[in-house]
Amino acid sequence: MGNDNESRRDPKALLHEMVQEFEKEKELELAEMRRDHESQVRELSFKVRSMERKVEEYESKVGAFEKMIERVKQPPLISGYIVRMLGADLKEDEVVLARGAELIKVNTGAVKKDQLKLGKYVWVHPQTYAIVEVSDYAHSGVVAKIADVIKEMSKIVITTEEGVEKKLVHVTPEQLEELKPGFQISVLPPLMEILDVLPNLEVKTMLLGERPNVRYAAIGGLGDAIERIKDVIVLPFQEADLFKEIGLEAPRGVLLYGPPGCGKTMLAKCVATENDMAFFNVSVADILSKWVGESERITKELFRQAQARAPAIIFFDEIDALFTTRGLLDTSGVHKNIVSQILSEMDGLVAMKHVFVIGATNRPDMMDPALMRPGRFDEIIEIARPDRKGATEILKVYITESLPVDSALVKEHGSKESAMEALRKYVIDELYGENKWIETKLSADAKEKIKTVKRKDIVSGAIIKAIVTTGKKNFVKRVMGLKKSERVREGLSLEDLRAAIEEETKEHALTEYSTYEQRQKELFRKIGGDPMVS
Ligand SMILES: Nc1ncnc2c1ncn2[C@@H]1O[C@H](COP(=O)(O)OP(=O)(O)O)[C@@H](O)[C@H]1O
Ligand SMILES: [Mg+2]
Repeated sequence: MGNDNESRRDPKALLHEMVQEFEKEKELELAEMRRDHESQVRELSFKVRSMERKVEEYESKVGAFEKMIERVKQPPLISGYIVRMLGADLKEDEVVLARGAELIKVNTGAVKKDQLKLGKYVWVHPQTYAIVEVSDYAHSGVVAKIADVIKEMSKIVITTEEGVEKKLVHVTPEQLEELKPGFQISVLPPLMEILDVLPNLEVKTMLLGERPNVRYAAIGGLGDAIERIKDVIVLPFQEADLFKEIGLEAPRGVLLYGPPGCGKTMLAKCVATENDMAFFNVSVADILSKWVGESERITKELFRQAQARAPAIIFFDEIDALFTTRGLLDTSGVHKNIVSQILSEMDGLVAMKHVFVIGATNRPDMMDPALMRPGRFDEIIEIARPDRKGATEILKVYITESLPVDSALVKEHGSKESAMEALRKYVIDELYGENKWIETKLSADAKEKIKTVKRKDIVSGAIIKAIVTTGKKNFVKRVMGLKKSERVREGLSLEDLRAAIEEETKEHALTEYSTYEQRQKELFRKIGGDPMVS
């Protein structure tokens, strides 16, 4: 019956139904296909992304390898230090490097010129010769001494420790002003460009001269010596016109001789102070021993500086060093040269206005007669050890009226003035008494003291000053512990000074002895044996 029913249906409607069903089916099918596709697309794009990442990763790896290969392929950089940055032969971006013994001109490359400095070590590309990198290191140069300054040529002569030969180095006008013979500098080999002026304060201050501050009033005794030095230096200086008018030539040099510590240096400084003169304090022994090879030049420069600062005094201390063992046995000829140098400079003093030379020595017996000839050291003044009178004068300089004096002593002598005098007289008696010896033990555990030398044979202004200074220290130590009310009655006492005399004379005797011993040793060393044993 169904057939009937079906056959009964409208074929058109049937077709429509079938079409609809078909379409539905297809739609479902399509939707499924779309879903399939979409998930495939997602999957693929995921794969693409991850492949992209992988590619990136590889690329960077390859890049790193390439860099590494590049680096390995690169030639080694060369290094050198900058020895010159300016010059007509250099372009704005060029400098000169020292590489071993050779010099090369290089381009500053990636580096700015003002970031570079003389002595800096830099890395340079071997093909392009351009600076690639500046290192932290710098060549700090070698030490050299200036032997001479040749103003006219803008050059200096230097000697270095390693080289025997002297080198001529060009300097700028500013450096020319600053540099003096005897200065220590550091120079950059091989061109010896100046890097630094090293502090060589001794020569520098010596060549600068000083303005001492010592007044006649500070000198005790030495009245005769002061009068004579006034005659030979001060008078011709103050009355220069008068001397010229009458055709009187002023003496050029004055030699002061006498034992150490008796006021030679003091007197010379005093003349400079009182007459407003520059003072050049020159240790001849130092010049000979410390500045070997430079001594002549230093001497020359010294006279030049003195002239520039005139009126001036050049004080040659220990001038005997020129002729003592050191000089006599010197085979290098250094001492001979400096003697003739000093002589010729002194002969030139006539032309120099107001430059005076004062020599000082403990050993007049060692002086070369050539130095004593007229027109050189033609005035010779002895600065002897003080006698009782002189020592009293010196004591007046150091034990002044303003000092507090032990009240018992004042009572005993009636007035403070007499007590002061008693203090001074006590010191004099202790120093000059015939039975006043310096007693020392030969060793710390020796039982007996031995008498070495009479005190009066070693008295000097320096010892007297030291005695008073130590006496004052003794006073302070003694009074320090007292109450204020008790202190008022205290002052310098005989005991303070007694202990000071004991201590200071002993000490000075020891130093004089060791100086003597030193000299003997030096002598033995020089001639290679004991001169007393033949
Ligand atoms: N006549 C003196 N009057 C005062 N002080 C003196 C006298 N002589 C030496 N002195 C003291 O001793 C110190 C050393 O003396 P100095 O002039 O250097 O002796 P010299 O040069 O003869 O070796 C001086 O600075 C000074 O303090
Ligand atoms: Mg002296």
